[in-house]
Amino acid sequence: MKITAVLLAAGQGTRMKSELPKVLHPICGRPMALYGLDAARSASTEPPVLVVGVGAEAVRQTLGGVDYVLQEQPLGTGHAVLQAESLLKGKTDYVIVTYADMPLLRGETLQKLVEVQCANSGPMSLLTVVHDNPRGFGRVVRKTDGTVSEIVEEYVARPEQLAIKELNVGAYCFSAEWLWQALHRIPMSKKGEYYLTDTVELAAREHLAVQPIVLEDFVETIGVNTRIHLAEAEAAMRQRINNAHMLNGVTLLDPASTYIEAGISLAADTVIWPNTYLQGQTSIGPGCEIGPNSHIRDSQIGAHCRVFMSVMEGALLENHVEIGPFARLRKGAHLCEHVHMGNFGEVKDSTLGPGTKMGHFSYIGNAHIGAQVNIGAGTITCNFDGEKKNVTEIGAGAFIGSDTMLVAPVSLGEQARTGAGAVVTRDIPAGALAVGVPARVIKPLPGQDKPGH
Ligand code: UD1
Ligand code: MG
Repeated sequence: MKITAVLLAAGQGTRMKSELPKVLHPICGRPMALYGLDAARSASTEPPVLVVGVGAEAVRQTLGGVDYVLQEQPLGTGHAVLQAESLLKGKTDYVIVTYADMPLLRGETLQKLVEVQCANSGPMSLLTVVHDNPRGFGRVVRKTDGTVSEIVEEYVARPEQLAIKELNVGAYCFSAEWLWQALHRIPMSKKGEYYLTDTVELAAREHLAVQPIVLEDFVETIGVNTRIHLAEAEAAMRQRINNAHMLNGVTLLDPASTYIEAGISLAADTVIWPNTYLQGQTSIGPGCEIGPNSHIRDSQIGAHCRVFMSVMEGALLENHVEIGPFARLRKGAHLCEHVHMGNFGEVKDSTLGPGTKMGHFSYIGNAHIGAQVNIGAGTITCNFDGEKKNVTEIGAGAFIGSDTMLVAPVSLGEQARTGAGAVVTRDIPAGALAVGVPARVIKPLPGQDKPGH
């Protein structure tokens, strides 16, 4: 048995007032349509088909590998599904149709919809929800015997129909052969569009069973038409993501102010303090303490780390690393085990070896720093000469005095030391001490008796 999902995304999305196609607006960091596609995949046997129109190229580029069908003019949801006929006719037994602006709809719900339709003698099943706030949804009209007879769009509904609290969610499962012929029989609406919802009346008139499934969870039905709905969907998705992490053993002190995007991995016994943002491709190991007031994007954090009021992007922390308050790690920052980085530091494209300490006010860029190095307050790698970035090398066990300027390219050997305020323009051999501006070696290694370069 073949089941194919068709997602509609060709509407103009006028109410969003945006250059960006509606279905590409992000919800918890992901384009909205991806949620619908995931749900569709979990309930179907064939790859999903996305009907695109306005902004089709942008949608294709962003979403990539699905089957696309173009609806050149937005002539209604029924007309949109019809565009998939030539691709799917004879190739699938059931067709799920949903709208790509419903990111909260769960895969399990679509699976249930398919199961119900498979057992239905009639040609279609659909999701409904009962709610006091109709939000502009179509009303589900039932006959006195309880069977569904039609769906009436709000703008044409009569007063008694407007009072109906059972709403059309916008997810359907059709027997494919019936659907293809029915779509050609949909009458044109007052607005000049062909509504998919009119298939309900077509079936009912022929005494074919339309099977409704009443959804319990209203949240699943949030459809995004305006930016107010977008914010509602974002909040609902955030709550769903946060709940899943909490059930997996992560403590969120205040879920309402914890912003974790979709797809972030968090291990058990990690504690997230309020006002923390976890974004992009980020993973955090067990037993960490993150936040408050931290922003972490595309970063990997090992076990038992502490990130306190800090900003990280494209960075890697091994286990037992402590940063903050007010640390900033940029792309390519790699802090090995037991590194301590205190306040007002910045690290970019650099490795800090195991146990290295950088307590206060430093900038480290394009540097390879060995294990157990002490980076004094105010140390700067002067890595940019106006044209290119130059590398600083510091050997294990080195001691960099406060306010040292390391004018790259420059390299300091193991156990090398610099005095406070040194401006290092030339390499310092292992074990030597260099001081002054520009820095010169005053204490060479044992056995080397000539100080200076
Ligand atoms: C639709 C339903 C309504 C339901 C509501 C739930 C119809 C006629 N009405 O109304 O009963 O309660 O959703 O949210 O189906 N689209 C196209 N091509 C078009 C028109 C729309 O692809 O020509 C797509 C849109 O991109 C969108 C979806 O279909 O993803 C729904 O369109 P929208 O305009 O949002 O319909 P609603 O007014 O919300
Ligand atoms: Mg809508």
